[in-house]
Amino acid sequence: MNRIETVVSYCKDPEQASFLQAACRAALVGGSIIRNLYDSPHTIEMKGAINLVTEADVASESAIIASLNEDTAGISIMAEESAGDNPKPPEGMAWIIDPLDGTTNFAHGFPFFAVSIALLKDGVPLVGVVYCPMQDELFAACRNSGVWLNGEPIRTTETRFLVESLVGTGFPYDIHNKLDEVLAQMRTILPKVRDIRRAGAAAVDLAYVAAGRLDGFWEMDLQPWDTAAGWLLVMEAGGLVSDFAGQEYSPFIPEILAANKELHPLLTDLLR
Ligand code: IPD
Ligand code: CA
Ligand code: CA
Repeated sequence: MNRIETVVSYCKDPEQASFLQAACRAALVGGSIIRNLYDSPHTIEMKGAINLVTEADVASESAIIASLNEDTAGISIMAEESAGDNPKPPEGMAWIIDPLDGTTNFAHGFPFFAVSIALLKDGVPLVGVVYCPMQDELFAACRNSGVWLNGEPIRTTETRFLVESLVGTGFPYDIHNKLDEVLAQMRTILPKVRDIRRAGAAAVDLAYVAAGRLDGFWEMDLQPWDTAAGWLLVMEAGGLVSDFAGQEYSPFIPEILAANKELHPLLTDLLR
């Protein structure tokens, strides 16, 4: 069995299993387009002062949408490069897609980026997939069935003390308006933890929390496609996901705190 057949066989709900298969296939399709474009010169357009979009974002998005329409016709699609501003929570079933999370990394040849695909049903995540093309790592989760990296189960860490933790974060694109808030969070958290990483792709940061490579992650000003898949990955891996105050999470609120069960309340106390 290949890694997609393996995770599909672990999925307890047959309908969800077919959605997971479609999400994995689409993620690999998008990821292979990104990987093939990685070493060529890029076409870069600006969405904001430091917010880029490349030929790979656009090509990956078209291919992912085509793949999902082929496998799961009739399910609505919200994808970053075609969603417009201020996306609203969709009713019923919807695919939420980031065709290339970590575009700045991609454009600079820093190989930390991913495709992120989630299926929500009335706001509840059923399936989540994050695919890192340069590492060929496929993170996949199915609600109430588990979470796997290339077909092997993964778990969050059991780290209990902040001083032993490696945590991740990210900086918003409108950093000039948020600098004080970002620096205040750094000032509070940096002296308490072992170290902080800002690797540049929120979906991958969340996948790394699920896989136990990071103990926790927080970021403000994110979009639903950055976090929808990673949210399910972390929950299925035994972690907790909330807003900065520890309240119920939705990818349609801009801030996220994800961590193992032990550290989540400690980080909430620091961010609140
Ligand atoms: C960005 C990345 C980055 C995060 C930004 C996101 P994009 O997504 O996830 O790590 O700090 O807030 O917008 O624009 O590369 O898809
Ligand atoms: Ca993103
Ligand atoms: Ca993106």
